[in-house]
Amino acid sequence: MKITDEKVTEYIQGLYKPLNPFLGQLRKEAESRNIPIISKEIERLLLTMLQIQKPERLLEIGTAIGYSALCFIMSGNVGHITTLELQEKLCNEASTNFEKAGVANRIRLMQGDALESLKTLSKEFRNTPSAPFDFVFIDGAKGHYLKIWKHCMDLCGPGTTIVADNILYKAMTAADEYLDVRRNKTIVNRMREYLNYVTELPGVTTAVLPVGDGIAVSVIEG
Ligand SMILES: C[S@@+](CC[C@H](N)C(=O)[O-])C[C@H]1O[C@@H](n2cnc3c(N)ncnc32)[C@H](O)[C@@H]1O
Repeated sequence: MKITDEKVTEYIQGLYKPLNPFLGQLRKEAESRNIPIISKEIERLLLTMLQIQKPERLLEIGTAIGYSALCFIMSGNVGHITTLELQEKLCNEASTNFEKAGVANRIRLMQGDALESLKTLSKEFRNTPSAPFDFVFIDGAKGHYLKIWKHCMDLCGPGTTIVADNILYKAMTAADEYLDVRRNKTIVNRMREYLNYVTELPGVTTAVLPVGDGIAVSVIEG
């Protein structure tokens, strides 16, 4: 089930314009091939947040073919991106897209399980005095958001924004009556654990927003 009214969503999506023709074409391609990418509403929300925050270093979990990473870097408001993807085939496509867009030198793509890549990053940045990332976008490995959060903490600091997408998971997170198939129960329970954790954690301010498929925006207090 959609978490927002369909007519309202259609209206909001009607206001959407791609950042540039390259991204417009890439979105069409991804949608026609059923490759999951950020919704138009989430794209606009994130680009607005990046315009406000202008993060120097952004960490993304879940690259797919690189659509969202390309939006972020091509917005001109992000200095450098590190993006993590499990599937080799998708990594190859993402690399090609980064090359085509002429931004490959500003995006580091790490292939493998996100938790392993996060461990590698923690080791790499162990001795850096300031937080390595000022913006984190979690958009992969749905059942693992809380683990990802915990692994990310070494890489974040005061002022870091952490955004988790699909957090309401077709309304299923909000109520069991919306569960479509039984096997989603584990993911749903884990999404709830994530939300309980980040909304109660001292030193973190979190907003849960019914945009797209639900988004949680957390900021580490300074
Ligand atoms: C929703 S897609 C990402 C879409 C992308 N952020 C965009 O909007 O263009 C989620 C991605 O997470 C990847 N993924 C799933 N489990 C993962 C894991 N354990 N480690 C790294 N990536 C993972 C999937 O292969 C998939 O490509």
